[in-house]
Amino acid sequence: MTSTLITNIGELSTSDPDQRVLTDAAVVLEGERISWIGPAAGAPAADTVHDAEGRAGLPGWVDSHTHLVFAGDRTTEFEARMAGAEYRAGGIAVTTEATRAAGDYELTRLLLGRAAEAASGGTTYLETKTGYGLDVEHEARSARIAAGVVDEVTYLGAHLVPAGIDADEYTELVCGPMLDAVRPYVQWADVFCERGAFTPEQSRAVLTACRDAGLGLRVHGNQLGPGEGTALAVEFGAASVDHVNHLSDADIDALAGSWSGWDPADAAEAGAEGGPAGQASAPGRGTVATCLPACDLSTRQPFPPARRLLDAGVQIALASNCNPGTSYTTSMAFCVTTAVLQMGLSVQEAVRAATYGGALSLGRGAGTDADGRRAVGSLAVGHRADLQLLNAPSATHLAYRPGIPLTGAVWRAGVRRG
Ligand code: NIG
Repeated sequence: MTSTLITNIGELSTSDPDQRVLTDAAVVLEGERISWIGPAAGAPAADTVHDAEGRAGLPGWVDSHTHLVFAGDRTTEFEARMAGAEYRAGGIAVTTEATRAAGDYELTRLLLGRAAEAASGGTTYLETKTGYGLDVEHEARSARIAAGVVDEVTYLGAHLVPAGIDADEYTELVCGPMLDAVRPYVQWADVFCERGAFTPEQSRAVLTACRDAGLGLRVHGNQLGPGEGTALAVEFGAASVDHVNHLSDADIDALAGSWSGWDPADAAEAGAEGGPAGQASAPGRGTVATCLPACDLSTRQPFPPARRLLDAGVQIALASNCNPGTSYTTSMAFCVTTAVLQMGLSVQEAVRAATYGGALSLGRGAGTDADGRRAVGSLAVGHRADLQLLNAPSATHLAYRPGIPLTGAVWRAGVRRG
């Protein structure tokens, strides 16, 4: 097995349970895994050596919330919003029409382009959702195409009730024939629990059916106003609730309660996580609050109370939410920058949320799953060798030099990608 020593790393953010930041560090990659990490002076020999020349190193980004399977363009809607119009979920229908009209080849080509863009920005683990098909045929097609490109696929038939069908009737479709059709391709299910999308009762039906089908759960909650999305996510033991812009004190307490007693070091040792099926058995494992700051800027929503969530003991993730309506960016670095400049996170907290937080929300924060897939999102021996070097001496430059593409070299599963 070929080994690579990456040495002379000026500052290494591990995103491990202790959030260690090492200086003058080195990492050894052996095959797809990390086999050694520590001070450069004590590093073992390897087949090849990469001199980081003092650059900063960190895990590859884990983007745990995207909607990349789509065709069409919503520039006009974006322009109207910048001129003062409010975001309404109804724009999803515009993308659904364009997505249905696109052929398989075109849809795959568009998805591959977006995944490549994400990879070039340092993303090494990628989730994406269906949700622009909204009938049995097109949701299944989106799921099938996504499964061939990304690491984790989420079924979001419950994104919007399409025109011409009663909402309860559509919910039954989502919970029945549509779920059966997507099931071979997806690991997760999600529901947009929000006024104008799915009611709490309809959301409950979707979560129940998808849980019974063996899928891990996620919820779009409290994006556009107060509501029951977060409470439902915690009640169902969902792996994440995403957006979380309008949280009540009770929502924050419920999220914090879901993490009480959880210790990342114990979880790492027990190797207790392993994809959606493992989430219920993970000790004390709670619901990750996923913040989507690029979306908040584009929809002019208040940022989520990330500082309060962290201080209350909630595990948070940062994700791009790349989609054509509210957040047309794959840049995780931009999300980190915004979280530091606007949301009161320290650089290391933001980096951890964009790496380990996303991995945790996908059940990939520790251990090796039933399919032999290694943990991602943090740098530790045995984890998948997903690592990026910045063209900068420290991660602080992600916030200090906003908008500058700092990702330099990237390794994914031990293979140099850029
Ligand atoms: O996460 N909130 C719902 N879904 C997307 C927006 C989808 C769209 O407008 O096309 C989001 O922001």
